[in-house]
Amino acid sequence: HFTPRVFSGIQPSGGLTLGNYLGAIKRFVAMQDDGIETLYCMVDLHAITVPQSPADLRHNTRELAAGYIAAGLDPAKSMLFNQSQVPEHAQLGWIFNCVARMGWMQRMTQWKDKAGKNQQNASLGLFAYPSLMAADILIYHTTHVPVGEDQKQHIELTRDIAAKFNHDYGVDFFPMTEPVIEGSATRVMSLRDGSKKMSKSDPSDMSRINMTDTADDIAKKIRKAKTDPDPLPASLDDLADRPEARNLINIYAALEGSDAQTVLTQFEGQQFGTFKPQLSDLAVAKLGPIGAEMERLMQHTDEIDKILASGAERARAIAEPILAKTYQIVGM
Ligand code: ADP
Ligand code: NA
Repeated sequence: HFTPRVFSGIQPSGGLTLGNYLGAIKRFVAMQDDGIETLYCMVDLHAITVPQSPADLRHNTRELAAGYIAAGLDPAKSMLFNQSQVPEHAQLGWIFNCVARMGWMQRMTQWKDKAGKNQQNASLGLFAYPSLMAADILIYHTTHVPVGEDQKQHIELTRDIAAKFNHDYGVDFFPMTEPVIEGSATRVMSLRDGSKKMSKSDPSDMSRINMTDTADDIAKKIRKAKTDPDPLPASLDDLADRPEARNLINIYAALEGSDAQTVLTQFEGQQFGTFKPQLSDLAVAKLGPIGAEMERLMQHTDEIDKILASGAERARAIAEPILAKTYQIVGM
């Protein structure tokens, strides 16, 4: 009985990678045209769970919004806004802090990765991150969340929180949200290490392609990307233990909008010396215009701010009654 609705978010923590683009934004754009209500957020409250600079946060939030719009999100079709502009996220987040269990949170692999060895010094907000993320999703009664593979565990936790809330209060109020993890780029890997996810937080800039990289940077990073000396095989099965090769093929497929097997059929028998320049050309052709448009939009930050304010107003119109009903259920 829940109307289909799509929500997703990205942290404005600086720099958008090819992983964010292929694993998230490109798919956000595809979903906005499906005739479903779509809400896409800059999750700034999540970005302050680790040490941060206010000036950078302000810049990165607008730059991420510019990235969304440059990649094709249309403010007339999708609600674009900052998480902090819709206070109902944080308000429902508190309710969920009282629903989620410590043991659930301790099992989160992202918490373990981000807190590292010194958990005692991590912020309480970093620990509670997945509970606020559940609120980000459920404050809109979201049914579908397009994300990369790394977020799967957090969506499972979101469902656990929804189920426990519904059970504890004897209601059928929050939906069981489905993650939408599909396509050839659900987990884009580092260009330097096929066992690590491409991430904006990787210390090596050579490990990732940034949305604002120049054509020369993109070509250089792909030329230097780690590979092996073997030619490309005919079948995907033969890439099982060649993670770096597999990653480049997946990137090509996702950029082109095809699938890995189709790409292999096209390049079978070729060496990386011939494949890489073609991958570079494709990446530059797809990313170049987006990077240029981001730069142009960043010359007009007042326009970006207006778009976000309008998106927040429309998002609040959905969130307000859901929070009010939640409070009523809880007895407030
Ligand atoms: P990051 O991991 O770069 O810090 P976020 O945690 O804000 O970025 O993630 C934003 C979105 O981008 C999420 O849906 C996440 O799953 C997706 N994403 C991030 N990195 C990758 C990647 N390497 N491959 C595929 N999707 C990714
Ligand atoms: Na992530």
